[in-house]
Amino acid sequence: MESLDWITQRVSSPRLTGDIPSGILSLLEAAAARAPDHAQLRPFRSLVISGDGLTCLGDLFAQALVSRQPDATATEVEKIRRKPLRAPLIVVGIASPVEHAKVPEVEQLLSAGIALQNMSQAMFTLGYGAMWRTGAMAYDETVKSGLGLLDNEHIIGFLYLGEIEGKLKTVHPAATGSLMQDWPGNQ
Ligand SMILES: Cc1cc2nc3c(=O)[nH]c(=O)nc-3n(C[C@H](O)[C@H](O)[C@H](O)COP(=O)(O)O)c2cc1C
Repeated sequence: MESLDWITQRVSSPRLTGDIPSGILSLLEAAAARAPDHAQLRPFRSLVISGDGLTCLGDLFAQALVSRQPDATATEVEKIRRKPLRAPLIVVGIASPVEHAKVPEVEQLLSAGIALQNMSQAMFTLGYGAMWRTGAMAYDETVKSGLGLLDNEHIIGFLYLGEIEGKLKTVHPAATGSLMQDWPGNQ
């Protein structure tokens, strides 16, 4: 692929398998560190979860579901417990915005989002798969406190990572002008 194709052809991979070599983690960290960051506040951190940690995360999801929905069926609890087992590795992306006179929270959340996307993009470029997921568990207080988030922090995504299982989906390019318009345009 040409270098720009790695961006224009990026797709998510919902089906992930295999192992991630540990050396890849430092590349992901380097990619995240190059997110634009107004005033260098570093409003992003992440947790790397694999192996038994994925089982612990599933237990935390199950605990969260039972506490928010005490009438959840055993099937529903088991289903959510198994969610983190869909990939060999999960990076939990965390936004850590702080009060700042010149950098509003929205800018810091964007910076954190770009950092996580840089990780996803880096994985694709390295020939691996990634899938950014959130869902109710990303916004759940039991999950947030179980993962050690501070009051000002948000889970912005569970980035599921692994070897790509199956075929990549076909990319349909955006119609010209659907995302960019000239301004001022013709009235
Ligand atoms: C903040 C955020 C949260 C997302 N949460 C989910 C999710 O919980 N479940 C899901 O299937 N896709 C979720 N997605 C979308 C997928 O990651 C993916 O982008 C989408 O399936 C389109 O695939 P593509 O990236 O190949 O275009 C989320 C994306 C973002 C940016």
